[in-house]
Amino acid sequence: MAAVKAPGVLRRLRERGARVRVIATAAALAFITELSLATAADGEVATDATWFEPRPDAQHLTHARADAVVIVGASADLLARAATGRGDDLASATLLSVRAPVLWVPAMNERMWEHPAVQANAERLRGWGHHFLGPVYGAFGSRGEGTGMGRMAEPEDIAAAALGLLEGESRSREVEESREQAALSTSGLLDPSTAPDLRGVHVVVSAGPTREYLDPVRFISNPSSGKMGFAVAEEARDRGASVTLVTGPVSLPDPPGVRVVRIESALDLRDAVVEAARDAGVVVMTAAVADYRAADRATEKQAKVAGDVTVHLTPNPDILAELGADKGGRVLIGFAMETHAGVERAALKARRKNADFILLNYPTREGTAFGGDDNEVTLVRPDGSSEAWPRLTKREVARRLLDEVLAIRERLPHSPG
Ligand code: C5P
Repeated sequence: MAAVKAPGVLRRLRERGARVRVIATAAALAFITELSLATAADGEVATDATWFEPRPDAQHLTHARADAVVIVGASADLLARAATGRGDDLASATLLSVRAPVLWVPAMNERMWEHPAVQANAERLRGWGHHFLGPVYGAFGSRGEGTGMGRMAEPEDIAAAALGLLEGESRSREVEESREQAALSTSGLLDPSTAPDLRGVHVVVSAGPTREYLDPVRFISNPSSGKMGFAVAEEARDRGASVTLVTGPVSLPDPPGVRVVRIESALDLRDAVVEAARDAGVVVMTAAVADYRAADRATEKQAKVAGDVTVHLTPNPDILAELGADKGGRVLIGFAMETHAGVERAALKARRKNADFILLNYPTREGTAFGGDDNEVTLVRPDGSSEAWPRLTKREVARRLLDEVLAIRERLPHSPG
């Protein structure tokens, strides 16, 4: 079960300089021994039995002084106890006392995870600022229970997310770690299960919003966070591609090992993408490009006037369509957000822009698309055929997207780098 992955998480955290303390719940100890946890943590393991030992400190308060708390293999039961403020075992009492960031990494049967009670508990915890990683799509359960949204995230991703939570408190240490991570991922040591199937391919990814200035201090934009594009860039990098990420203004740091070009307007985005796409084998346009810009951008701040104001806008170039018009042997992927008639509209776009497929999403679905860590997309091909993917982390969407891209490249007569 998921608990057996805990030592892998502990080891990775320690390798990156974190000091770890372990609390094992009674359920965890049914799957993994105290000794294997203690060995991976290089220290003793706290359990409900040790909680009641006579000691000078209150163990739940000592543990709650951590800089971050990660629940690896969170069960529906622990989620429920935390969401209702129970403190009847060491783990839940610690969660009641903690003020640091909390990361839940759920692992449970897909049906349990999707139950409204479990979802309501997770939502409640999110409302208190708790973070969630996964579950992800894949095989779950030790007895081959099935494939679906019940698989726990991988130790590497858990460790990376946990360290991400420490951002701010230990910024300099994190910079060091990301350098280390870059070195590891370039040498292929980071995740040996990732095949270098994009080695030698130049992948260009656009991400984030564009800003269309009306005057030096006012602009039109949208809430795109850039997370989807950054996930595609990181996934392509980990699969051996050389990656150019052209991004609008977002708050995400540059991913190590990726060439990052930061731009503001759609016109700048076009210049950077067209230039980078020259020798690219794959272009993924996740950027939320503003459709219009000011026809006449003022060079000075416009004074406020009484009454209504009319702004004259002019359309921006369609970058994807432009690349599609001179496609060569590149694989071109777009994203589209629709509120209605999604599949038909996306298929029409794929045809018009000469894209190989479009990933369609809906801005109205909670927790996905703009700003969220998950995405729920439908792959739409130019011929109108489509495939709805379940709700996945953006990294998992990126993984599947690139799997599709590879399948398309294999069918091409010759694929450029
Ligand atoms: O037409 P729509 O904006 O819905 O198309 C979305 C797709 O086209 C996205 O992949 C987006 O990055 C791309 N696009 C573009 N240039 C534009 C508008 C959208 O490349 N001006």
